[in-house]
Amino acid sequence: MRAVEIQEHGGPEVLEVVEVDVPEPGPGQVSVDVAYAGINFADLKARETGYRVPSLPFRPGLEISGHVRALGAGVTGLTVGQEVAALTAGGAYAEVAVAEAATVFPVPSGVGLRTAATLPTVLPTSYALIHSAGRLQPGETVLAQGAAGGVGTVAGRLAKAAGATVLGVVSSAGKAAFAKEHGSYDEVFVGDFEKAVQESTHGRGVDLALDPVGGDTFRASLAALAPFGRLVSFGNASGAAPWSVGQPELFPYGVSVGGFSILTLARTAPDELRTLTERAFAKVADGTVTLPVTAEFDLAEAAEAHRLMGARTSTGKLLLRVNG
Ligand SMILES: NC(=O)c1ccc[n+]([C@@H]2O[C@H](COP(=O)([O-])OP(=O)(O)OC[C@H]3O[C@@H](n4cnc5c(N)ncnc54)[C@H](OP(=O)(O)O)[C@@H]3O)[C@@H](O)[C@H]2O)c1
Repeated sequence: MRAVEIQEHGGPEVLEVVEVDVPEPGPGQVSVDVAYAGINFADLKARETGYRVPSLPFRPGLEISGHVRALGAGVTGLTVGQEVAALTAGGAYAEVAVAEAATVFPVPSGVGLRTAATLPTVLPTSYALIHSAGRLQPGETVLAQGAAGGVGTVAGRLAKAAGATVLGVVSSAGKAAFAKEHGSYDEVFVGDFEKAVQESTHGRGVDLALDPVGGDTFRASLAALAPFGRLVSFGNASGAAPWSVGQPELFPYGVSVGGFSILTLARTAPDELRTLTERAFAKVADGTVTLPVTAEFDLAEAAEAHRLMGARTSTGKLLLRVNG
C-alpha cells in the first residue's frame, strides 16, 4: 500500500509517498481502509520539529474516515466494512491505517465519509475547550485565537450555540470574513487584540479565552480575562518557551488557567475521550456544527496541504483524499 513517510525533519518536501506492507491490527486495534485523512496543525509540528514523534522514519496523520478492514483480537462492537471515523496515533496519511478500537467511532447518521474525516480531532477538542475545560455559561463572552481554522471554526459555532458572545482573532481580513460566516463569530480582530477586546467588552474582559498560540498571545489572553475568567491553553503554534503562571498572576484576579490535549486524553483516559467524542459528534448530527472542507489533496500532494496550512493561508479543514 501507499503511505506518506518522513525520513528526516524539515519542510513540506520531506513528506514522501512510499510503498509499505499493509499494517495488521494488534490486540484491541482496528485497521481501516482509509477514504479521507484530515490535516492537523500538529502534523506540521511533527514533520518540522519532531513533536510527538517517537522515532524516524515516521508516518504522520492523526485522523481518518473509511471502512473497517480488520478487527484485532478482543475488539467488539465494530464490524468489517462499517463506516467509521477514527483518531490514530500517527500513520493516517496512508491507504490503510491502524487505530486503537477505543478511538474508532461509527460515522454519525446522515454524515458522509468526507465530512467524517474532519471530525475526530477538531470536534472533541472544540467541545472540550468550550464545555469540559472552558465550562462556558450562557451570556458569557469567549475569545478564540485562530478563529478561521479547524478548531477555531468549530469552537465558534459551539460557543454561539451555548449562548455566548463570540470574539475571534485571526491573521488576515479574509480569515476574519470566514470566521464570521462559518464560525458564527460576532466580532473578529486581525492581529493585535488587547485594545479591541477591552473596547468590545466595555473594559470588563472575557469569561473564557482559548489559546493555541502560546508566548505573548498566551500572556495577552490572560490579561484579557474578566474576574473569574478561565484561560484554556491547547497549543503552542508560536513555538515560544512553555508558559508558566503562578499565584501572582491568578490569585489577585480570581482567574484560572487550564489546558487540554486530545492525544494525551486518548492515551490516559480513553473512556473520557469516548464520552466526549459521542457528545461532540451529536452536535454534527443535529446540525449545530458544520466545518467546511476548503481544500482537498491526493495522498501524493500532502506537501501542498502542509504548505497551505504552514503559510497561515488555510481556513476551515484540509483533507487528503485516499480512497474517497
Ligand atoms: N490540544 C489539543 O488537543 C489540540 C487538538 C487540535 C488542535 N490543537 C491546536 O489547535 C490549533 C489549531 O489546530 P488546527 O489543526 O485546527 O489548525 P488550523 O487552525 O486549521 O490551522 C493552523 C492555525 O494556526 C494559527 N497560527 C497562529 N500562530 C501561528 C503561527 N505562528 N504559525 C502558523 N500558524 C499559526 C493560524 O491562525 P491565524 O493565521 O489566523 O493566526 C491557523 O488558524 C493548533 O495550534 C493545534 O496545535 C490542539
